[in-house]
Amino acid sequence: MALKMIDYGSPEYKQMTQLRLDMLRKPLGLTFTAEELENEKDDVLIGAFEDEKMLGCCLLTKVDEKTMRLRQMAVPNSLQGKGIGRALMVFAENIARDLGYQKLIMHARKTALGFYGKLGYTIGGDEFTEVTIPHYVMEKNLR
Ligand SMILES: CC(C)(COP(=O)(O)OP(=O)(O)OC[C@H]1O[C@@H](n2cnc3c(N)ncnc32)[C@H](O)[C@@H]1OP(=O)(O)O)[C@@H](O)C(=O)NCCC(=O)NCCS
Repeated sequence: MALKMIDYGSPEYKQMTQLRLDMLRKPLGLTFTAEELENEKDDVLIGAFEDEKMLGCCLLTKVDEKTMRLRQMAVPNSLQGKGIGRALMVFAENIARDLGYQKLIMHARKTALGFYGKLGYTIGGDEFTEVTIPHYVMEKNLR
């Protein structure tokens, strides 16, 4: 498996948006707006690959000088439970750390709390609804 940064608008980015659509939006009856995707131009876009095949993805958005937010973490159903999500998280954390950020946060789906918990993230507040489903802010100090 190769982990790499993806260029906005590249063929890999199109693969990534398709995977995110299939895994994170379509099951909820939702899609992406053009504005949402445009706002990703300055994000750190990350993919896991086996040759040309995308095994998973996530992205990092700057929140402030100290903090990045991890978003859009997805591994296809058939490939889950093999360590791909963990590898993506470790890669993303290393990038954020190398860029000088001190903290990573995410809006974690309730169903994914256990996954982020295993990677050292703690819940930072009350449950809230996003994209129609329950979420929690989770966070980890990168230092
Ligand atoms: C959540 C997700 C990214 C995890 O990816 P994955 O490749 O299956 O995770 P890994 O195989 O790297 O798992 C790492 C560890 O977390 C555990 N884990 C994975 N998903 C979990 C979950 N939903 N709940 C509890 N534990 C979980 C694994 O059992 C593993 O534990 P271990 O190290 O003790 O063996 C993936 O299941 C997914 O894409 N889910 C659907 C989309 C989604 O919910 N994305 C997150 C939005 S916030």
